Amino acid sequence: MIQIKDNIFWTGIKDWGIRAFHGHELSTHRGTTYNSYLIKDEKTVLVDTVWDPYKEEFVERLEAEVGLKNIDMIVINHNEPDHGGSLGYLMSKIPETPIYCTKNGAEIIRKHFHKDWKFNVVKTGDTVKTGKYELVFVEMQMLHWPDSLLTYVKGANLVLSNDAFGQHFSPASLFNDEIDSCELYQEAMKYYANILTPYSALVKKKIEQIKALNLPIDMIAPSHGVIWRNNPLQILEKYYEWSQDYNEGSVVIIYDTMYDSTREMGKAIGEGLEKSGVKYKMFDCAITDRSDLLTEIFKAKGVIVGSCTVNNTVMRAIASLLDEIKALRFKNKVGAAFGSYGWSGEAPRIISQKLQEAGLSVPQEPVAFKYRPTPEEIQKCIQFGETFAESLK
Ligand code: FEO
Repeated sequence: MIQIKDNIFWTGIKDWGIRAFHGHELSTHRGTTYNSYLIKDEKTVLVDTVWDPYKEEFVERLEAEVGLKNIDMIVINHNEPDHGGSLGYLMSKIPETPIYCTKNGAEIIRKHFHKDWKFNVVKTGDTVKTGKYELVFVEMQMLHWPDSLLTYVKGANLVLSNDAFGQHFSPASLFNDEIDSCELYQEAMKYYANILTPYSALVKKKIEQIKALNLPIDMIAPSHGVIWRNNPLQILEKYYEWSQDYNEGSVVIIYDTMYDSTREMGKAIGEGLEKSGVKYKMFDCAITDRSDLLTEIFKAKGVIVGSCTVNNTVMRAIASLLDEIKALRFKNKVGAAFGSYGWSGEAPRIISQKLQEAGLSVPQEPVAFKYRPTPEEIQKCIQFGETFAESLK
């Protein structure tokens, strides 16, 4: 256990080896951590547990360091199995211990473990005195599950925010002032882009609510990655910025191709953007890490997607990407579509339609050429890029 505040300890697990999360939905190039915290006050409080595969290590450590029978209460901020997963094993040893969670949390815990433990349902503003500290609860519904809760430790000026402000990152140090902040921010943004983007309107409101509470905050300790100790409010401000239709003004060109014609068209579109002074990046969708790609889309103002036509539709990597763009509910982005085809040529029109269904504005008709683009057609792609650049203004 690592002391993070007077008599408050990190008792989590560093998962150095994990490379995919949520099944295989989310890449975790830098591993992750499951942060659990222990408050040793007059009452001993455990806040969150760790993912199920680590339950024995976690519970054995608690037994050795504090004694399970000495735990007076458990707070479950969120029962996704990466945080609540060890609860079943822990409760098999101390079944009478009260669990503090939201109403939705109690239901979700019951549905996961099929047990009716002693639930103490809390809502925003409820408090529990633990001795010199006091826990203050703030519901964080849909950030990012219906049960999400934040626990503020009054007296320690400590925010235990669970998933919010976290990163899938297993760092050398637990504290933001002792690690590479470039790595930290890459992971914090990727986490926001892939997990929280659909809930941005709620994030904005919640941050305004937290700010209005005027709580003194020395430290924000999420349930993944590092603890924000130096200037902890920086991540609150970043979330506020990211929650408001964030983009960095640049463009991404994302394509899939069979025989390079669609790629050549994409390169020419990029040339048109460049001639107009617009910065862009280009990605082969089929071989690019999907979570990184969605982070690039999060940062971009313009999203230009290309596919050749196969069996009257788009290539499979592009099909799933378009679904994910829609699911993440990006706002304030401009889209366009392109692609080469052999005979039927539906793909660019399908892309254009799906981008519009996903809420992007698509001011241009898609550009499509048969088989290999001629030099004149390449020129038209360059012009397409220039027109797209105009539409960003
Ligand atoms: Fe880290 Fe929503 O669990």
